[in-house]
Amino acid sequence: MSRSDAIRTLSVALDERSYPIHIGPGLLGRPETLTPYLAGRQVMIVTNETVAPLYLEAFKRGLPEELEVREVVLPDGEHTKTLESVARIWDALLAAGFNRRCTLVALGGGVVGDMTGYAAACYQRGVAFIQVPTTLLSQVDSSVGGKTGVNHPRGKNMIGAFWQPKAVLIDTDTLATLPSRELSAGLAEVIKYGLIRDLDFLAWLEAQMPALRRLDGEVLREAIYRSCAIKAEVVAADETEQGARALLNLGHTFGHAIEAHQGYGAWLHGEAVGTGMLMAAELSRRLGWLSEGDVARVAAVIAAADLPPAAPADMGVEDFLAVMRLDKKNIDARLRLVLLSGLGDACLYDATPPERLEALLADFPRR
Ligand code: NAD
Ligand code: GLY
Repeated sequence: MSRSDAIRTLSVALDERSYPIHIGPGLLGRPETLTPYLAGRQVMIVTNETVAPLYLEAFKRGLPEELEVREVVLPDGEHTKTLESVARIWDALLAAGFNRRCTLVALGGGVVGDMTGYAAACYQRGVAFIQVPTTLLSQVDSSVGGKTGVNHPRGKNMIGAFWQPKAVLIDTDTLATLPSRELSAGLAEVIKYGLIRDLDFLAWLEAQMPALRRLDGEVLREAIYRSCAIKAEVVAADETEQGARALLNLGHTFGHAIEAHQGYGAWLHGEAVGTGMLMAAELSRRLGWLSEGDVARVAAVIAAADLPPAAPADMGVEDFLAVMRLDKKNIDARLRLVLLSGLGDACLYDATPPERLEALLADFPRR
């Protein structure tokens, strides 16, 4: 198979705002995958200090000469996912005199993607943007679906907007430079799709985990394709999370509490989600929905992905609850959790008896 034959395309079906997800090797150097989605000649590439030395030049080399290309290189890290960083993007756009027909390109992981999307949503009341995700997590999750924004010291992703990209270009070659801890964090979101929606995919992941961890190109592309297919379907059915989209948050309510309590960046988002999914599975078992064998299976696939099996030692019940009470899924002070009604099947549940939740938070393993 040639490299161009390896490129596969999905669509996020949102009527006139529908967009393609192109997945394959070598996409960075192929302008034809990008130029149809530019609003005009002005292009602002947003990236960070880690990704720029790796991929910025290769990306720019692939752009047609007639474009007016500028760049903003932000500092790296979840703790930089702030309004101040987004303001740097707006400053650069204004300094360059970019108008409403400019296009922002997010070249990097989920942090760059979420901030660039939010900058695009607000600049001159909304301009085009394209996602070029370079981490596994951003390729399977954050680049698709139009959730954009920044963190607030009191809660993760609390400031933001729904703003869909014009296209998502996933160059799977970029994963070659990804640290293995980041690969594992991305695998958490891949496992999530199997757990909430697709038991066959979960079984496939259990079998393919060693190949995924040694970056087998074909297996990785298949995992990314199947993950994006599920995400695209869910987003098309419920773009602004009135219902089914909330199921994509399996493990996130617990995970966000870990991230916020530990300080953004101490635990990677995917690591916290991995532990959070195990907590959600255990709570589902205690509610009578999963068997011990099911929970052991979840624990095994989390361990195979090299994700943490236990919560931070310094987090007490109230530390979890303080952040969980602020979760965006809650309605009228009722805590709503994504739980597993079976393996491969998730539900949004707002009737967990508080004493059951507190017992789980108290006796879930710590490390
Ligand atoms: P990240 O953006 O911080 O990237 C992880 C690290 O990898 C960073 O140091 C980054 O510079 C580096 N990196 C990126 N690409 C690389 C490459 N190819 N080679 C080497 N290093 C590379 O983290 P992430 O895991 O990509 O994304 C996490 C963020 O995404 C969180 O802020 C989370 O809230 C957000 N998120 C958003 C959504 C959404 O729907 N918008 C969904 C899930 C997660
Ligand atoms: N990552 C959750 C969502 O996009 O809805």
